[in-house]
Amino acid sequence: MFPVLMPTYNRADLAFERGEGVWLWTTDGRRFLDFGAGIATSSVGHNHPGLVAAIAQQAARVIHVSNLYRVPQAESLAARLVAASFADSVFFCNSGAEANEGMTKMIRRAMAGTGRPERYRIICFHGAFHGRTLAMLAATGNAKYLEGFGPVVDGFDHVAFNDIDAVRRAIGPHTAGVIVEPVQGEGGVRPATLDFLRQLRALCDEHGILLGMDEVQTGMGRSGRLFAHEWAGIAPDVLSSAKGIAGGFPMGAVLAREAVARHLTAGTHGTTFGGTPLACAAAGAVLDVVLAPGYLDDIDRRARHLWQRLHDVTGPAPDVIAEVRGAGLLLGLKCVGPNTALLAACLAEGLLAITAGDNVLRLAPPLIVSEAEIEDAIGRLGRAIERVRAAAHKATVP
Ligand SMILES: Cc1ncc(COP(=O)(O)O)c(C=O)c1O
Repeated sequence: MFPVLMPTYNRADLAFERGEGVWLWTTDGRRFLDFGAGIATSSVGHNHPGLVAAIAQQAARVIHVSNLYRVPQAESLAARLVAASFADSVFFCNSGAEANEGMTKMIRRAMAGTGRPERYRIICFHGAFHGRTLAMLAATGNAKYLEGFGPVVDGFDHVAFNDIDAVRRAIGPHTAGVIVEPVQGEGGVRPATLDFLRQLRALCDEHGILLGMDEVQTGMGRSGRLFAHEWAGIAPDVLSSAKGIAGGFPMGAVLAREAVARHLTAGTHGTTFGGTPLACAAAGAVLDVVLAPGYLDDIDRRARHLWQRLHDVTGPAPDVIAEVRGAGLLLGLKCVGPNTALLAACLAEGLLAITAGDNVLRLAPPLIVSEAEIEDAIGRLGRAIERVRAAAHKATVP
């Protein structure tokens, strides 16, 4: 029989029925240490009491009213995000791709609104991932994802990541802005250098174009700052967020400076589910955790510990892992053999991780992961490395 769920995903044969913190239990009672967090999304872990209570309490009051009316929960959430970031104004939506669509529309609209409608093109980067809508497939520019979906949406130019001269050369009379991920997550956990981000900011200013930051994967505390670009000491003009923003409840957001946001007048953009009372309550509970005094510094401290311990365990295994890279709690292990072999070995050791491009195994635990849980993961990873090594040895012994 044809699968009732469309076969768009390559699913592992695991079904989880319950979670607690960084742990997940399958329907057949096996326990896994979740260093994937639902692809960097379960930011405060599973069954977080604050998040669960916020959702339950809001659901019992009112779930959805529409954007025909004021939504106090959205107003207060936006005010908190504005107070904690470069932004002056926030638009809520439902996913990362949708946030990036909004960001792209805002960049174009700001150009048109300042008398430069011919500037509509966005510079993006090789290795980027911005989502699966038609325009975001074009922004992503990966031939594998574009195949079979008709003409590629116009308006996106691609250049080498971390190459400021390539960006400079690509800027033309039709360029409206640049969209960059501070760390390319799907593309293989490849960080932009802080210098590159600073140079991008300067180049955009020099040409009067806009800098958009895709922080769908890197944002909301994952880097040890609310947003990863803060490490470079710069600010974008507009930023997309999603994934961890509401701890697993579907939500996206576009944060912008007033100079961009003022062009989004009534009727120019919208979405039915954007910023519902329920989604905003969930995101508020996540912010309660992430913006608690000292918490971002604490994430940074635990992330550095994980980084160090990953070096400890992978250093003696250059035959299995070639490199550790990433930032904060978004880390990648560049594999020597297929990353799927290391993933399978991790699963066999009860450790959930995620593959990424460039033959990388990605680790993105919930932001609440403790040092003891990091040690546990390191033990499992060490045993998984041994499994990969043993399998490789078996394959080469005649
Ligand atoms: C950087 C980045 N942008 C956009 C997206 C798309 O987000 P969504 O799957 O919520 O549409 C992702 C998803 O992995 C992402 O990592």
